[in-house]
Amino acid sequence: MAKVSTTYICNECGTQSPVKMGKCPRCGAWGSMEAQVAQAAPGRTAARRPVTPVVVETLSSLADTAAQRVGSGIAEVDRVLGGGWVAGAVTLLAGEPGIGKSTLLLQLAHEMLAQGHTTLYVAGEESLSQVKMRAERLGVASRLELTRETDARTLAEHFRAFRPPFIIVDSVQTLVADDDGTPGTVTQVRDGTALLTQAAKEVGSALVLIGHVTKQGQVAGPKVVEHMVDTTLALESASGFRVLRTMKNRFGPAGEMGVFEMTTGGMRPVSNPSEAFLAERPRGVAGSAIVAALEGQRPLLLEVQALAAKSPYASPRRTVQGLDPRRVDVVLAVLERRLELPLAGLDVYVNVAGGLRLTDPGTDLAVALSVYSAVTNRPIPEGTAVVGEVGLAGELRSVAQLERRIQEAGRTEFPRLVGPPLAGSKHVTVRTLAEAIAAVWA
Ligand code: TYD
Ligand code: MG
Repeated sequence: MAKVSTTYICNECGTQSPVKMGKCPRCGAWGSMEAQVAQAAPGRTAARRPVTPVVVETLSSLADTAAQRVGSGIAEVDRVLGGGWVAGAVTLLAGEPGIGKSTLLLQLAHEMLAQGHTTLYVAGEESLSQVKMRAERLGVASRLELTRETDARTLAEHFRAFRPPFIIVDSVQTLVADDDGTPGTVTQVRDGTALLTQAAKEVGSALVLIGHVTKQGQVAGPKVVEHMVDTTLALESASGFRVLRTMKNRFGPAGEMGVFEMTTGGMRPVSNPSEAFLAERPRGVAGSAIVAALEGQRPLLLEVQALAAKSPYASPRRTVQGLDPRRVDVVLAVLERRLELPLAGLDVYVNVAGGLRLTDPGTDLAVALSVYSAVTNRPIPEGTAVVGEVGLAGELRSVAQLERRIQEAGRTEFPRLVGPPLAGSKHVTVRTLAEAIAAVWA
């Protein structure tokens, strides 16, 4: 006979104890320790659970998941998703209130309906008549199914019973997972998401969850559920545009971006982001450099700005926005040591115009030249874009996808690209930072 033992488990925090206690030793809750009877580990002679064979598949016996992708109907969104929605995959769309999450997803709902996929919109944030008004303005097909139900258990049952292929939950912060839960708390957001995620995966629905990012943090943020979802997208504002970015993607590359403009008719894809981001660029001003950058797989021309001013402080300030400050520090050190640019005593500010963030090392040369231009008060000639990673010796290193960056520059009003060599290419080839400076102001 197996021995029976009793454990006491706190129903507040999950702490276990072998003896009954009036107060939980970890969280301090009174009367929360509940008895749980467990079978002790079976001995050699104890009857064992019948052994069931492990289910083994081969790669070839499994269905091809790539074939289950459904185009979203909006190319800029497909780019970010890696080709479209995946059946049974859960996507989180995070962004600040008012950025356009509900608008974009109503438009995407319409695209799914147009392809004949039943679509369910869980409207936890707004009344159904508010959603109807907006949906009609956006021209969403009237077959869209709506509910105000926010009980995650009830919703999960509905998913299992009716199997809608496309489901939007607006938002995770309105979900409740148990009877006395308050929406927006960590437990409700996490448990509610878990219930819906499991149901969607069982029935193969593509589930999109909206999560508000709040600066004040009164409600649990999307971070709480990030590990449960397959794909996380962030919707942000930059230069008056809306940038949709892949933060995490189990089914495709991360780091991709899509660009939209918020109009009275909803979110409109921007077909030429390089042009859009450079529209407000100041002309003939020192301290401005155009970089042929790469965001995910997309070549994009962006402006890097620098300003240098005499510092009132003993140790001058280095203020960087949209770039890795450590990379900028390295570039400034190279300018000072290899090119003898006098930076001591100057506060230096460097940023990517429009509030975009760049992790592309190819931005180094634009940082170097914008600072050089600012300090020497010489504007970079019109029509010139630059690219290249700067090494500690002042050498220029090649960058990923140089050919596509050259092509992108060629499509814009910055066709003269200065950068590291590439066989067979006709751009302005330079091997060091000093050569780049000579070539730009040739
Ligand atoms: P919304 O999608 O409600 O943002 P979120 O769901 O992220 O909180 O949209 C935010 C703003 O966009 C709202 O203030 C109104 C504006 N808007 C437009 O400019 N055009 C439109 O077609 C729609 C529907 C909204
Ligand atoms: Mg909304």
